[in-house]
Amino acid sequence: MKNIVILISGRGSNMDALIAARDAGTLPVNIAAVISNRPDAAGLETAARAGIVTHYVDHRGFADRERFDAALAECIDQFDPDLVVLAGFMRILSDGFVRHYAGRLMNIHPSLLPAFPGLHTHRRALAEGVRIHGCTVHFVTPALDHGPIVIQAAVPVLDGDDEASLAARVLREEHRIYPQAVRWFAQGRLVVADGRVRVTGEQAEGAALVAPQER
Ligand code: GRF
Repeated sequence: MKNIVILISGRGSNMDALIAARDAGTLPVNIAAVISNRPDAAGLETAARAGIVTHYVDHRGFADRERFDAALAECIDQFDPDLVVLAGFMRILSDGFVRHYAGRLMNIHPSLLPAFPGLHTHRRALAEGVRIHGCTVHFVTPALDHGPIVIQAAVPVLDGDDEASLAARVLREEHRIYPQAVRWFAQGRLVVADGRVRVTGEQAEGAALVAPQER
C-alpha cells in the first residue's frame, strides 16, 4: 500500500475527506502522518483523534524559506512517502523542495486553474463575473498553483452568491475530487507526459473532468 503524508495549515476539511475515504475502504493508502506549519492548526487534533501521527514544523522559527523547507522535508521524509498531499497548506514552497518531491507532490486549489492562481479565488471569481468556477487537483511544479492537472470539478456561480456561499459550493467538490485523485495515484493509474496527466485503466475516458452536480 502507498504511503502518503498530508500537509495542512488550518481546519483540514480536505484532510478529513481523505481520512473518511480511507476509513470507508475506498482509498487504499496508509496515511503515515499529518504535518502542519502551524502548531494550532485545528486539523492536527482531528488527525490525532483518528489515530494518525501528527507533527508541526512552525515556519516562524526559521530565518528563511529554504531553512524551513529543509526542516519540513526532513520531517516528511522520515515517513518515506510515495505521495505528499497538500491539503490547505498555505506556504509557498521553494524550488528545491518541489524538485525533491517531483512527481509525488499534489495540491488542491479552489479555482479552475489556470484561472485565479493565488489567494482569494472566490472573491476574484465573483468580481470577474464568471458563471462557472470550481477546483483543481494538480501535481506541483515550481510555478505557483501550476502543474499537470489531475482532475477538476466545476460549479455554477449563482446570482445571489457571496464569497462564503461560493466557497462552500466549491469545497463540497474539493472533498469529492481530492480522494479521487489520490485514489488514482494509489492505483498507479496516473501517467504524466508533456505536462499533461492521463488516467489509465477502466472508465478513464473523460475522468479528468467532473461536471457540476445536480443539487
Ligand atoms: C481549500 O479551499 C483548499 O483548496 C485551499 O485552502 C482551503 C483549505 O481548506 N488551498 P481545508 O483546510 O482543507 O478545510
